[in-house]
Amino acid sequence: MAAMTIDGLHWSYEKGGLHIEVLRDISLSIRQGEIIALLGKSGSGKSSLLNLIAGIANFHQGEIRIGEHRLSQFDEEQRSLFRRRHIGFIYQFFNLIPTLTVAENIALVLELNAEPRASLKPKMQKMLLQLDLLDKSDDFPDVLSGGEQQRVAIGRALIHQPALILADEPTGNLDATSAKQVLDLLIGQCRALNSSLIIVTHSKAVADLADRTLSLVDSRLLAGAQGLAW
Ligand SMILES: Nc1ncnc2c1ncn2[C@@H]1O[C@H](COP(=O)(O)OP(=O)(O)OP(=O)(O)O)[C@@H](O)[C@H]1O
Ligand SMILES: [Mg+2]
Repeated sequence: MAAMTIDGLHWSYEKGGLHIEVLRDISLSIRQGEIIALLGKSGSGKSSLLNLIAGIANFHQGEIRIGEHRLSQFDEEQRSLFRRRHIGFIYQFFNLIPTLTVAENIALVLELNAEPRASLKPKMQKMLLQLDLLDKSDDFPDVLSGGEQQRVAIGRALIHQPALILADEPTGNLDATSAKQVLDLLIGQCRALNSSLIIVTHSKAVADLADRTLSLVDSRLLAGAQGLAW
């Protein structure tokens, strides 16, 4: 069974009384465990598409099915509950909560999902070890390097073992060494959990690691790396 299907999705925004179409008739089916690289030039709608799948933004035409759920049926609160349980989101600029420590940032989604203390602690310890962040667990995000912050963001996105992980240029702001470490960690964890992953990227190295590459061109989703000279 497909982990996620998108059928005939359209998305536009309104400006000065005009509807400006960003995504037109998007259809896509992703298998459980499949890793997709999503390419497209700046402004082509990559973040918009991830935000729709995550239920952060609302769509009016088409359908997104994740497992047995149909996103069009959810109101805003149901979408946010659904996101918390089934989706992991990794942002380009980390988006960590500055007033929470590394451990608290990672544990937040488990706390929100009312995970019992007895299982929360061992899950946290295991994740911190995998992230190589055990010695940073009580630090606040502002003292961490970019690579460390992005590893925390990966931990936060994966701790609840979501079926679908959405990563919006997760290595866009890292040096080459940190980028490789973060990427290896993310892909390794996805493979271990058999989670599906959509990763937005401008990098051939990232696209080469994916099972499939898709491109957003002129509001449409096309197979392969379209119009890109690596
Ligand atoms: N809520 C919104 N209101 C108005 N315009 C929006 C909104 N969200 C996105 N846009 C516009 O839609 C287009 C697509 O934006 P999006 O952020 O999805 O692009 P992107 O492919 O992620 O680009 P980048 O590679 O620069 O991150 C842009 O022109 C953007 O200005
Ligand atoms: Mg973007």
